[in-house]
Amino acid sequence: MPRDTEPGGEPRGPRHVAIIMDGNGRWAQARGRPRLFGHHAGARRVREVVEACPGLSIKYLTIFAFSTENWKRTQVEVAGLMKLFRRYITKETRALREKGVRVRFIGDRVRLDAKLTALMDRLERETEGNDLVHLTIALNYGSRDEVARATRRLAQDVADGRLSPDDVDEETLPKYLDTCVLPDPDLVIRTSGEARISNFLLWQSAYSEYEFIDTLWPDFTAAELARLCESYGARDRRFGAVKA
Ligand code: FPP
Repeated sequence: MPRDTEPGGEPRGPRHVAIIMDGNGRWAQARGRPRLFGHHAGARRVREVVEACPGLSIKYLTIFAFSTENWKRTQVEVAGLMKLFRRYITKETRALREKGVRVRFIGDRVRLDAKLTALMDRLERETEGNDLVHLTIALNYGSRDEVARATRRLAQDVADGRLSPDDVDEETLPKYLDTCVLPDPDLVIRTSGEARISNFLLWQSAYSEYEFIDTLWPDFTAAELARLCESYGARDRRFGAVKA
């Protein structure tokens, strides 16, 4: 029986789904192809998943595209991924705008090249009037880096007298995070059989439900997302409390 329900008794799916899209490299290697072939296949899955969101009542979708640790990969892979992001944004801007998707990026833009950040800014601007689905792309994102950057700004506000140390609490700190305008994720999915969270939304997912699935990201489908949303509806989320 679904227990996580709306007041009317309808099963409730996750409002915010966050996805660690893992397994592109293995998917490509299994086909005897270079890792970037897998990333390109992975990028094509993003569209299907975004398009499935309204039908599943997912209002917020956050995807992990590139971590602060991914710079450790070969120069060829990093450069290929950056080119893929530029291509994806250029190709998808119009469709995202017309389909009612509002796009935001989280992560530190300082290390990204100017051509890419200009495209990111433009996509954010061109979709800022949309509200059907809020797609957040984590690019050069790491949760520890995000918390460090947030703390730096918070400390500056204290030093400048805009904030009192006594006012720093669980409500104040998230206002400094990259995700300040987003609700916490209800469901975090990681593909490819790895059961770890790899520096993704550490603060925000304190009470999220997790799904670690074996599917490699390029094989992930809207049908699988629907199945995960359905099983989320049967979970008993207590947030540390005891249900009456
Ligand atoms: C992890 O797979 C995936 C990444 C580091 C990149 C994620 C990027 C995409 C899905 C492509 C495009 C995204 C957008 C938004 C256009 P992995 O390389 O670690 O796979 P492996 O564990 O099998 O090696």
